[in-house]
Amino acid sequence: LPPPNLLRLSERRRCRAAWSDPGRKLLTLESFARTEEDGGRDIASAARAVRDPELRAHLERHAADEARHAGLFRDRARALRAEGVSAPSTPAAPGPDLHGAHAGGLFADLGEVGYVAFLHVAERRARDLFELHRELVGADAATRALFEDILRDEKYHVAYTGTILERWRRQGRGGEVRAALAQARGSRWLEGWKRFGARAGARLSRAILRVLYFTLLAPAAIPARKLARERGGWRPPPAGRDPRSQG
Ligand SMILES: [Fe+2]
Ligand SMILES: [Fe+2]
Repeated sequence: LPPPNLLRLSERRRCRAAWSDPGRKLLTLESFARTEEDGGRDIASAARAVRDPELRAHLERHAADEARHAGLFRDRARALRAEGVSAPSTPAAPGPDLHGAHAGGLFADLGEVGYVAFLHVAERRARDLFELHRELVGADAATRALFEDILRDEKYHVAYTGTILERWRRQGRGGEVRAALAQARGSRWLEGWKRFGARAGARLSRAILRVLYFTLLAPAAIPARKLARERGGWRPPPAGRDPRSQG
């Protein structure tokens, strides 16, 4: 597995590109709005399924937060369009993934502990990414303020999921919690590694070919060319002589 700082670097590059011009910024804001909305919808459906009253209350507030974030991103995008910014005609690469795959119906697949562990890992990642984005938006004060507002909620999402997991641990479900966290981290880690591996793989094979060319093929070609120049090029062996008897 690659050292985490390499992943972090490739992530930074991707995040920086998301704000590199007004058109990309517009697409990024609109894609964030969709991710937050999908996340909110999935969390709202989980809230309806859980029986634990404390967890349900948190999930309801969490779902409302994500819906509010979607609205904030959409409003900011709308303001940019009103200022005359338009989306580039060639679709940009998909924006960075925020809250992970809140693809819908995750609660039914993962169960209570698995779902809260997944949320905890995904929200930590969202918090880290938003901190990065807040730094990368540069001089755009309105977008920076938006990230600051949203970050307060993301910190709460990390905190309450952590508190619930801690309560389960104290109640003797430590093994279950550990396994669920490992699974949630593993799937994120694997995802990142696959993304990193695909790009690095192509770069690496080009680099290996270049090294092979300069270390093996090019040096071997120099004496052969020199020899050919000295001899005035390749000549066929004299007729009637068996070349195997030479030397
Ligand atoms: Fe959010
Ligand atoms: Fe969140």
